[in-house]
Amino acid sequence: MYFPRKDVKIISNIKNHVMKLPFAEPYKTKMVEKIYRSNRSEREIWIKEASFNLFNLRSEQVFIDLLTDSGTGAMSDNQWSSIMSGDESYAGSSSYYNLKEAIDDITGFPYFLPTHQGRAAENVLFSVIVKEGDVVPGNAHFDTTKGHIEYRKATAIDCTVDSATDLLSGDPFKGNVDTVKLEKVLKSNPLDSIPCILLTATNNTVGGQPVSMENIKEVSDLAKKYGVRLIIDSARFAENAYFIKTREKGYKDKDIRDIAREMFSYADAMTMSSKKDAIVNIGGFIAFREEELFHKATTYNIMYEGFITYGGLSGRDMNALATGLYEGTDFSYLESRIRQVEYLGTMMKGYGVPVLEPFGGHAVFIDAKRFLPGLPPEEFPAQTLAVELYIEGGVRGVEIGALMADRDPVTRKNRYPVLEMVRLAVPRRVYSDKHMDYVAAATASVYERRDRIDSGLRIISEAPIMRHFTVVLGRA
Ligand code: F0G
Repeated sequence: MYFPRKDVKIISNIKNHVMKLPFAEPYKTKMVEKIYRSNRSEREIWIKEASFNLFNLRSEQVFIDLLTDSGTGAMSDNQWSSIMSGDESYAGSSSYYNLKEAIDDITGFPYFLPTHQGRAAENVLFSVIVKEGDVVPGNAHFDTTKGHIEYRKATAIDCTVDSATDLLSGDPFKGNVDTVKLEKVLKSNPLDSIPCILLTATNNTVGGQPVSMENIKEVSDLAKKYGVRLIIDSARFAENAYFIKTREKGYKDKDIRDIAREMFSYADAMTMSSKKDAIVNIGGFIAFREEELFHKATTYNIMYEGFITYGGLSGRDMNALATGLYEGTDFSYLESRIRQVEYLGTMMKGYGVPVLEPFGGHAVFIDAKRFLPGLPPEEFPAQTLAVELYIEGGVRGVEIGALMADRDPVTRKNRYPVLEMVRLAVPRRVYSDKHMDYVAAATASVYERRDRIDSGLRIISEAPIMRHFTVVLGRA
């Protein structure tokens, strides 16, 4: 079966049409990396040796790696050349100032601290603002964000809109914060126990779904009304800006960078994993509007990350990041990136595979509950499906479900989230549409034999927090 893109129309009688050319990637390939295509029996042995945990596989054992879009993008020739001019001075390097200028330009925040990646930014910032007993409302906090909050004996409260868990709702902004739920949290807790509202855009946990500008404004108004800071987890801010441009009224003719600056104008600070939308292999930062908060965070940054003008990054990393912030906010790049994800989603849907819609910005999410309806939640249907997909085609995705949701920190009972999904995250500028065809076909093959997958997996041993990374599993 072949499912052509809807936007590609072969025009037979050109004379009678004004040819509308399809989009195409605004880059070409200068260097390639060989990947090994293994066979099924090799993979059956390897996944058993990896204790059915896809994080334990060696990358050579994976044909198409959709584990994450984080740090896995291909840097451009411009980024590589900016690496060559990195300034490795301990203090005051020119690379730091290059990055400062880029952050100021793209986000509008006047203060920033470099960190080695996104979770380090969370660690530094939360060291200043989050204390035991606090509550941090937000829209489905990412797992490391939640981990940093819970580690400090505080609580992350999810206030995402209900449509986020309705896999068939066509809501274009399923990442939004439900402002009624949010206001309830703001009203029912002492304000000095709410260090911030944490808004994640796009929202990874509910399927790479965007947050509308209108919603960011409403959340910001509530934050101001109650005197609480608004912080944006900005790992995929450029993809969010793309969705605002293409889906929200009034933004069609605006530039991605203007949209991004407007998003940030409503916030007091941001954390950034630059491994996503800044297309670098490592890097992160925190940016602030308040000078005082910046100064307080500086002490922790020096302790955990490094001096303020490098914070866990080398000069060359900072240079590549400064260049990447511009490349990641280029419309034609974003269009080709997000539409490649859409292409994969459309193919899978064509094969009948149950997928989350609208498709996310960075990934296609398969609904494991509908894919494997016979498996009980205790046998981890999404992890089981991710393992089957690996065995089928050497494609590595990741479970976003009960394994990742971990145990409740107080009751230690397993948490079973409404969404039980396998995420296929597409690295930036790495794979071709042919690779996407292959992934869709491999998934369709598993789908065809789904009735024969009649048992799942069980936990043999697990870590007390963020267990999915290291969990040891066996067949149930
Ligand atoms: N926030 C969001 C929304 C994320 O998706 C991630 C990472 C982080 C924060 C943490 O950033 O990895 O640089 O420390 N997400 C990756 C993923 C790991 O696969 O989605 P980090």
